[in-house]
Amino acid sequence: MQILRDIPALRTALSRLRADGGRIALVPTMGALHDGHMALVMEARRQADHVVASIFVNPRQFGPNEDLAAYPRREASDSRMLADAGVAILWAPPIDVMYPPGFASNLSIWGVSEGLDGAARPGHFDGVATVVAKLFNQVAPDVALFGEKDFQQLAVIRRMVADLDMAISIVGVPTQRAEDGLALSSRNAYLTKQERKDALALPRALGEAARQIGRGVAVRDALEAAEALILGHGFASVDYVALCDAATLRPMDRLDRPARLLAAARIGGTRLIDNIALDPA
Ligand code: PAJ
Repeated sequence: MQILRDIPALRTALSRLRADGGRIALVPTMGALHDGHMALVMEARRQADHVVASIFVNPRQFGPNEDLAAYPRREASDSRMLADAGVAILWAPPIDVMYPPGFASNLSIWGVSEGLDGAARPGHFDGVATVVAKLFNQVAPDVALFGEKDFQQLAVIRRMVADLDMAISIVGVPTQRAEDGLALSSRNAYLTKQERKDALALPRALGEAARQIGRGVAVRDALEAAEALILGHGFASVDYVALCDAATLRPMDRLDRPARLLAAARIGGTRLIDNIALDPA
């Protein structure tokens, strides 16, 4: 596996890979890799001949009071995992390659990025869209893979690719979970032992709300019960528990089309998100 840190070297390596006509997949990440990221790499290997993974902790998607400085950085073990998984290129640009002095652009995707995490983390999805558009231009992949764990992010990327006529197929990969059901996340590393146990209330609350809505309980009542369950298990606050249209992420008050139940909540100093699919009977 080649580890590359500047754009000319990346372009040279990519043109060599493309010489045989093979398809190229991109898996964008911020590193501190776990089995969730690796599921994207495995699916990328099925979808393409060559896999490029990127690691870039993108400052533009972190708010002023968020965990940019504390975000886990483990490039040595990450690159071993990627090499073992058959990745051809690790693209790991330094900050001044991604954002050279004078950088002055911002990409804003309306609608789908405005509620949920977009409301709780102002500017977050502008930062994500801007960096992902740059990664797409740098690598020019045929296919790019994103996790359903960050369901709104996946929806924002799909909107961006459609709106800007980017010839890249976007593949969503189901959320990978620990055995007990907690969604894998680099941020789980922040949790104390007790918080890790309590954190299970998040997927449990979503599962319970899905069962209730499926049984005909009013959506608003089921969402309120889920919020109470989360707050009753050591979480300090809930940013949202919402039932949304699976494509537009607009809130729904009745389960009359394919939907997604999404939640974000804080436990100790850590903000966790999760979501599950919910379809009408
Ligand atoms: P990061 O949080 O490192 O996640 C990289 C990719 O892994 C994302 O597509 C995310 O949805 C996916 N992922 C994380 N945990 C997962 C899990 N448990 N199951 C399945 N997929 C999972 O998301 C980002 O980085 C950044 O916003 C990025 C897209 C790289 C732009 O900076």
